[in-house]
Amino acid sequence: QSFAQDFRPNYHYTPPKNWVNDPNGLVYLDGEYHLFYQYNPFGDKWGHMSWGHAVSKDLIKWETLPLALPEIQNGDGSTTMIFSGCVVVDSFNTSGLFKAGFKKGLIAVFTSHVSKPGQDLAQHQSLAYSSDKGRTWKYFDKNPVLDIGLTNFRDPNVIWWPSEKKWIMTVVKPLEYIVQFYSSKDLKKWTFMSEFGKQGDMTKIWECPSLVKIPIVNTAETKWVLMISSGHRQAGYLAMQYFVGDFDGNSFKPQKQNEVFYVDEGKDFYAAVPFYNLPKNQKNPIIIGWTNDWEYANDIPAPDGYRGGFSVARKLSLYKTGNTYKLQQQPIISEKLTKEELFLSPGYSLNSKLGEKTANSYALSLDINLGTSKGFDLELLKTAEHYLKLRYDVASNMLSLDRINSGKTDFHQRFPSVESVKVMPEKNKLRLDILVDRTLVEVYVNGGKVVLTDLVFPERLKTVEVLKWRE
Ligand code: FRU
Repeated sequence: QSFAQDFRPNYHYTPPKNWVNDPNGLVYLDGEYHLFYQYNPFGDKWGHMSWGHAVSKDLIKWETLPLALPEIQNGDGSTTMIFSGCVVVDSFNTSGLFKAGFKKGLIAVFTSHVSKPGQDLAQHQSLAYSSDKGRTWKYFDKNPVLDIGLTNFRDPNVIWWPSEKKWIMTVVKPLEYIVQFYSSKDLKKWTFMSEFGKQGDMTKIWECPSLVKIPIVNTAETKWVLMISSGHRQAGYLAMQYFVGDFDGNSFKPQKQNEVFYVDEGKDFYAAVPFYNLPKNQKNPIIIGWTNDWEYANDIPAPDGYRGGFSVARKLSLYKTGNTYKLQQQPIISEKLTKEELFLSPGYSLNSKLGEKTANSYALSLDINLGTSKGFDLELLKTAEHYLKLRYDVASNMLSLDRINSGKTDFHQRFPSVESVKVMPEKNKLRLDILVDRTLVEVYVNGGKVVLTDLVFPERLKTVEVLKWRE
């Protein structure tokens, strides 16, 4: 293995080469999970957007397949890029695009972005279909299927509404902070139903909305959640916000929430969408996100020829706290979580050699009893000069992830950063499930009630972790 390959995440999917952004068309069919994604077949920066493709049997090991949906040359000097969208299984052949009785037709609903050099001409929603489990695709010959005359109107996410035998599309007007809902009987003709927006986080444009029904832990109830990729708690960065509420097949009514809720508090989790058509016994939605941030996305190091990647798959549930419901996320991994129970006491200092043994790719579960300490500093991916610092402060209940001194950070001035979030201990304990995977770190706090995902570029492959008590 080369130096560059050594920094490629081990149990997170990354493309063999070139640029990726949003996951697209997450769908399960016949024992196979599909991950399509925004992909540039020609380079390691954003451009020529097309859909790349990978499949997995277990959401853990992924196999890369050939390009699924290429950019289209229109013949008049304009091109149509294939922007983000979803894939549904048209099991009743509502579209009429498949042979009668065929139950396994896949339909991609995506944003067709038409442009000429230096000029954006249109964004509308279009279809492509596949009869061979996503291996080959045809563009629908009457595209687009939904055009309202805007240059910013995108990222359709479609679900099936069984009681009315209709499809529902969630789609966004990014610059207006408005999510719209449309319905269709055949995926080809769409009717406006309602809209929601102009609230919550409006520090950045809105993108990649999705509507998903999520079970509430320890009950038989569910709530609808609307996830939107938008701004970060820390102005200028990107993140995802969500609204919990009710959806009646026509419009979305949010619960009263005074604060804005974020799916992930780190800098590098964006554009996550749920899988469509999960196996019946899998009641909890599963999402995958793009692990990068538009603030510096095109500038992160790409030593091995690829730029950008994806989070592990995360299983979603809701839990009740006070009068609100909040998201809880559980990572799907095969890595064995190395468990350690710690009781912080004066002078406490853990110096685990875990990282050194595992070449910076491991999963660690710490159950930390705070004792009477004022908090702790956990230094991950530590070398003589650098470390990624996870700090907890008992007085303020603030947990922060600090990558200012984490290794290579000078490729963009916005990359060195710290994020902080309030986390209440449970029975004076903090549980941290930490996925460290070379250049990507996901921290799940208290069973995934808070999650932080950050890219980090340590300059060496052999590191250690150090945990220190704070007086
Ligand atoms: C989000 C996004 C989408 C768009 C795609 C283009 O990251 O900007 O809104 O469809 O990326 O690559």
